[in-house]
Amino acid sequence: MVANKRIALLATVAASVAAGPTICAAFRPPSSSSSSSRPRTEQRTPRQPRPPPLFSSAVPERQSSTPPPPLSTIVNRVAVAGATGRTGRYVVEELLSRGVRVLALVRDVDKARGMFDPTNDLLAIRRTDLGSKKDVISALNEGGESSRCDAAIWCATGFSDSPDQNILTRLTALFGFATNSKSTIDAVGLPALGEGLAARNNNAGVGGGGGGDAPLPKVVMLSSAGVTRPGWSDEKKLELEGCAAIPIVRLNPFGILGIKSESEEKLRTCGVGYCIFRPCGLNDKWSPNQRPIFSQGDVAVGRINRKDVAKILVDILSTPEATGKTFEAFSIANSEGYYPPSAYIGPALSRLVPDAEGGLSEDAVRATYALMQQLLPGEKQDASQLAMGQTYEQLDRGETGRLGVRGGELAGVTSDDVGLGS
Ligand SMILES: NC(=O)c1ccc[n+]([C@@H]2O[C@H](COP(=O)([O-])OP(=O)(O)OC[C@H]3O[C@@H](n4cnc5c(N)ncnc54)[C@H](OP(=O)(O)O)[C@@H]3O)[C@@H](O)[C@H]2O)c1
Repeated sequence: MVANKRIALLATVAASVAAGPTICAAFRPPSSSSSSSRPRTEQRTPRQPRPPPLFSSAVPERQSSTPPPPLSTIVNRVAVAGATGRTGRYVVEELLSRGVRVLALVRDVDKARGMFDPTNDLLAIRRTDLGSKKDVISALNEGGESSRCDAAIWCATGFSDSPDQNILTRLTALFGFATNSKSTIDAVGLPALGEGLAARNNNAGVGGGGGGDAPLPKVVMLSSAGVTRPGWSDEKKLELEGCAAIPIVRLNPFGILGIKSESEEKLRTCGVGYCIFRPCGLNDKWSPNQRPIFSQGDVAVGRINRKDVAKILVDILSTPEATGKTFEAFSIANSEGYYPPSAYIGPALSRLVPDAEGGLSEDAVRATYALMQQLLPGEKQDASQLAMGQTYEQLDRGETGRLGVRGGELAGVTSDDVGLGS
């Protein structure tokens, strides 16, 4: 019931947003100085061109709800970087369950053998140095023509392995971010996957489902919501405080979000068909198989189960509407059983703007923010008041989170919180 109400709310507001700038202006905060308080339609004179649509019109929404063909008929073999990670393992399992051949790129082969069934014919495990471009490209080509990888999913993340990790480094590891863009695997391994696959003429599209023969994403990156927020102007941060002041953005140790953002940009420019997926907080206590809400503008805040993240990453590989796009997602509370939205994720993704179009207008970003804030978990729905490690529910009850009070969280981080075995 709650889920249905939330979905109905979403549909109503989304329809309002899609209806155009005049309705959108209702969501614009009065303090906004980056845009006039008058609707854009009133500012136009007959000689001015029409303003761009709020959301993409370049890829027509699919008329058909027919899903694309099975992934196993589209790809030869999928490389999974970070296959033994908490999300990566679900990605591998999801691919195997769909009959897709997998090359698990790992740093610890024994860990992988203990995690997966090594006798599964669909699975190959390869020790790979994700910090070496040469090794990554060589992995993609291993096994001759019939075994070559023609797609990849990046679930790895670099962090300091040094034994003298201080508290900030451990906090960084806790959130799975790199500490040094020049030496991390994200900055080297991810673009290497892109370059390796871009070199092949294998970017064929799929015709099923009404998507035409648009190219498919060949590299899907698991990134993170929030990566652009530290770079926003002070004015925008204040205006969109509910997403700009969440703990990881507020603390942003070592500028880690910017490093992630730089890695995204490397992928965008390496010439391969790509998709960058930025989930909100990964939370394995949040129910899986819930309705994801896709959005752009980096204003989403919420939670999503890693299993749902894995499904989305895998679904993207057969979804031409995802190619060349960057988007965020969380899942709605109490919406179990509502994945995928519609028959598959293509129709939802077709409404998103390709990166090549320059992203959402600032009006659309603010309208999206207004919508996203209404879908936060809990009662207070004020993410800016959260301490690192504190849940929305704890905030509602006035309880302190596991890492202590807001502003003093760093002192509470322990090696158990890191949970990455390093
Ligand atoms: N925490 C959040 O709320 C959140 C939210 C949004 C996005 N994200 C992002 O989601 C991604 C996945 O998160 P997760 O929790 O699944 O991460 P995870 O469990 O820490 O997995 C990271 C993977 O990277 C591998 N790895 C780390 N350093 C490596 C190295 N030097 N060489 C080779 N492999 C290396 C790890 O290998 P081992 O298995 O051998 O350790 C592991 O497989 C991360 O990029 C994270 O930033 C996190």
